[in-house]
Amino acid sequence: MGSAVGQVPEYCKMITEWVTEVSTIPVLVKLTPNITDMRYPARAARAANADGLSLINTINSIIGVDLDTMKIMPSVAGKSSHGGYAGPAVKPIALHHLSQVASDREVNLPISGIGGISTWRDAVEFILLGATSVQLCTAVMHYGFRIIDDSTEGFTNWMESKGFSSIDDFKGKALEQIDEFGNFNLLHKTVARIDQDKCIHCNLCYIACEDGAHQCIDLTPVNGHYKTEVREEDCVGCSLCSLVCPVEGCITMVRVDDGSNKKTWNELIEEFEKEGKPLTWENLAEFQKKHGIVIH
Ligand SMILES: Cc1cc2nc3c(=O)[nH]c(=O)nc-3n(C[C@H](O)[C@H](O)[C@H](O)COP(=O)(O)O)c2cc1C
Ligand code: SF4
Ligand code: SF4
Repeated sequence: MGSAVGQVPEYCKMITEWVTEVSTIPVLVKLTPNITDMRYPARAARAANADGLSLINTINSIIGVDLDTMKIMPSVAGKSSHGGYAGPAVKPIALHHLSQVASDREVNLPISGIGGISTWRDAVEFILLGATSVQLCTAVMHYGFRIIDDSTEGFTNWMESKGFSSIDDFKGKALEQIDEFGNFNLLHKTVARIDQDKCIHCNLCYIACEDGAHQCIDLTPVNGHYKTEVREEDCVGCSLCSLVCPVEGCITMVRVDDGSNKKTWNELIEEFEKEGKPLTWENLAEFQKKHGIVIH
């Protein structure tokens, strides 16, 4: 489906029917990611007797604007338009759409996964999230067809190391973990730990936590530099500091709860409602305090 018609499930159904009515070979409908929820066109393709789906196509984009000429890049005799974004940067978006469509019971069709696949590792991830096969476009344009041989070898080695003999042994295996935030355990606690022996005192973690997270890294002057220390009781485990730290293995994320306690947001609200109090910030805060739950 082109980006325009692929956003309208009715058109998607109509066009797929034109093809499935006459096709003598299996029909895979390729879906555009330029839509909020890809399940609707996917269901439409199913209703029109598609044999399978492939996703994602490219994402509408504008690369940038040349600051000297003030022309949008690329410029075609002074005109430009929305192009299609592809390659490694789109992989997380492709995995999101894939997991949504693959776990939709109304769709229930084989899916060929596409979007940012460059290595066998990427391919395995797509299959773990529900793809039956994968396709590579940008990576082949970049590195040539030889990349397929390298990928196949790595893919086969990984399957052997896990004791899998077919794709079906692990297709969609990661999907069951996807749940709504309301069912996450609020008492699961992970904190950042800094290895002082590895730290080069660049303070990037401090800036990230101070301006972008929970202001829980303290700076203490020591011997002409600042020592960075995490106040674990206030750390929410967002990982931002570990992502900006330039030293490999200097900040690690450590789970500090023992897993014995569980309380989800949905359970919390259910219990709260049973007490019959109106849902105000004050009542919620009191309830959280009573049950020892800290939500930042
Ligand atoms: C230069 C280029 C041309 C493309 N042409 C088409 C096309 O004609 N039809 C189509 O369905 N998808 C087309 N695509 C989309 C790719 O098939 C693929 O869905 C998308 O690029 C995401 O995969 P990738 O990250 O492996 O490139 C094109 C992609 C690129 C980069
Ligand atoms: S994990 Fe997040 S909240 Fe915790 S110290 Fe790092 S940046 Fe701050
Ligand atoms: S970002 Fe890493 S190296 Fe830099 S101060 Fe923080 S812990 Fe040390």
